[in-house]
Amino acid sequence: MSPLLAALAPDSSLVAILYIVSFSLFIYGIKLGTHPTSARRGNMVAAVGMAIAVITTLCQKGIGNWDIIIGGLLVGTIVGAVASKKVKMTEMPQMVALYNGLGGGAIALIAWSEYREWVHEAEPLKQLVGGLGDRTVIIIHSGLSVPLEVMIPTLLAMVIGSISFWGSNVAFGKLQELIPSQPLALPGQKIINGVLLVLLIAGGVYLGVNNEYVNLDQPVFILMLVVAALLGVGVVMPIGGADMPVVISLLNAFTGLSAAAAGIALDNTALIVAGTLVGSSGTILTLEMATAMNRSVANILFAGFGSPATGGGGDKEERPYRSLNAQDAAIALAYADSVVIVPGYGLAVAQAQHTVKEMADELNKKGVTVNYAIHPVAGRMPGHMNVLLAEADVPYDQLKEMDEINPELPQTDVCVVIGANDVTNPAAKTDESSPIYGMPIIEVDEAQQVLVLKRSMSAGFAGIDNDLFYNEKTAMVFGDAKQTVQDIVTELGNL
Ligand code: TAP
Repeated sequence: MSPLLAALAPDSSLVAILYIVSFSLFIYGIKLGTHPTSARRGNMVAAVGMAIAVITTLCQKGIGNWDIIIGGLLVGTIVGAVASKKVKMTEMPQMVALYNGLGGGAIALIAWSEYREWVHEAEPLKQLVGGLGDRTVIIIHSGLSVPLEVMIPTLLAMVIGSISFWGSNVAFGKLQELIPSQPLALPGQKIINGVLLVLLIAGGVYLGVNNEYVNLDQPVFILMLVVAALLGVGVVMPIGGADMPVVISLLNAFTGLSAAAAGIALDNTALIVAGTLVGSSGTILTLEMATAMNRSVANILFAGFGSPATGGGGDKEERPYRSLNAQDAAIALAYADSVVIVPGYGLAVAQAQHTVKEMADELNKKGVTVNYAIHPVAGRMPGHMNVLLAEADVPYDQLKEMDEINPELPQTDVCVVIGANDVTNPAAKTDESSPIYGMPIIEVDEAQQVLVLKRSMSAGFAGIDNDLFYNEKTAMVFGDAKQTVQDIVTELGNL
C-alpha cells in the first residue's frame, strides 16, 4: 500500500483531522451566514469545507469505480452550475426542494447498497448453513450478524431519506405548478398515512430483530423503501402550495437526520456532523417560520391551509377605500421627513427591487429618511426580502427587522407597502376569528399615512381581506409594483 493510501485509511488520524477541518468550516460558514454582509463569504467557506470532505472521502482506499465517480461529479457539477445560474429568485424555494430531495434520495440509496452488500456477504454462509442442518443455531449465535448499532441507523437512513426524496419532489412539483398546488388528499388520507407509518415501524422491527446474516431479508427492505415513498407523497400532497417553504425546511431537516444516520452506519464523522447541522438548522428554521406565522407545525402539516375548508377567499363585503395616482403618491412621499418601505411577495413577483432602490435614492436626495421594514415571513421563503433588496444594493443598515421598526412607526410620516398584504393586516392583532390572529405584523396602521401599492383589492396568501386597505389613513395606488414605483420615480424627478 502506498504511504498516501495508508495515511488515508478510513480510521487514520489524517482522515480524522481533515474531517474535523471540513466540519469546522461548515460551522463557521453557518455562523457567517447569520449576517447579510458575511453570508456570501459563509457560503464559500462551507463550500470549501464540503470540497475537503468530498476529496478526503474519495481519496480513501477501496472507494469504488472511478469512471462512475468522475462521470457523476461532472454531470452533477454541470447541472448544478447551470441550474443555479438560471434560477429566478422567485423559483428558489423549488430549487432548494429539488436539491434537498436529491440528498435524501442519495442517502436512501446508500442505505440500500449497504444492505445489499450484507446480503451478498451472507450468500456463502447461507449455503453453508443449508448444508449444516441442525447446527444452524450455533452459527447464528456465533456473532455472524449485522450489529444493531449499524442496522438501526441504516434502516432510519433509508426510511427518512426516501420520505424526504418523495416529499421534496411533490413540493417541487407543486411550486413549479407541475401538479395542482392546492391541498390534494385521498378520502381517509390521515388514516392511510397512519397505516403506512405502522407498516414502516413493523418492517423496521422485523429487519432489526432478524439481523443475523442468514436471516437478512432484502425484499422486506425494498418494500419499506416503497412504503416510505408512499408516506412522503401522502404527507406532502394534502398541503397547500403556499405552505411549501415550511414543508421544504422540515424535509431539509429530515434529509439532515437521514445523512447523520447514514454517517453513524458508515462510521463517517463528517457525514454525522454535516447531517446533524442540517437536521438542527432545518428544525430551527421550520419552528421560526411557524412562529412567525403564528401557526403550529402540526397545523401547517395537517390543516390543509388554503383549501376551501379553511376559508381561503370567499365573498367579501364592499367597503369604501381611497385610491391615489402615482403623481399624488410622489407628492406625499416628497414632503415626508421619514418613509418606511414595507416589501412583500408582490415586490418579488414584480421584480421591483431595483426600481424601489431608485425611488429611495430620489427621496434621499430630497432629504427624506428611508428605511425598510422586514417581516420574517414576507414573501415565500426565509430571508426572501433581504435577498431581493441586497440584490439591488440597498444598504444593510436600512433594513430593519419587525421588532426594531414597529416602535418607530407612530413617528413615521409615510409607510409604503409594496406588494405586501398579510404581514400588515391589523386583523392579526384585533380579530380573534381571523386565521392569522396572533401573527406578529408590521404595524403599518400606526404610521401617519399609508400608501399600498398592489394591483387590486385581492387577498394575499392567507386569503383574507385586509382592514388596512380601508383605514382612513390609507390610500391604494393600483398597478404592477414595478410600473407604479417607476411612475413615482418619474414624478419625483419632476418635483
Ligand atoms: P401576501 O400576503 O401573499 O400578499 C402579496 C400581495 O402582493 C398580494 O395581495 C397581491 O395583491 C400583491 N401582488 C402580487 N403580484 C403583484 C405585482 N406584480 N405588483 C404588485 N402587487 C402584487 O404577501 P406578504 O405580505 O409578503 O405575506 C407573506 C405570506 O406568505 C404570509 O401570509 C406568510 O405567512 C406566507 N408564507 C410565507 C413564507 C415565508 S418563509 N416567507 C412561507 C410560507 C408562507 P394583488 O393581486 O392585488 O396585486
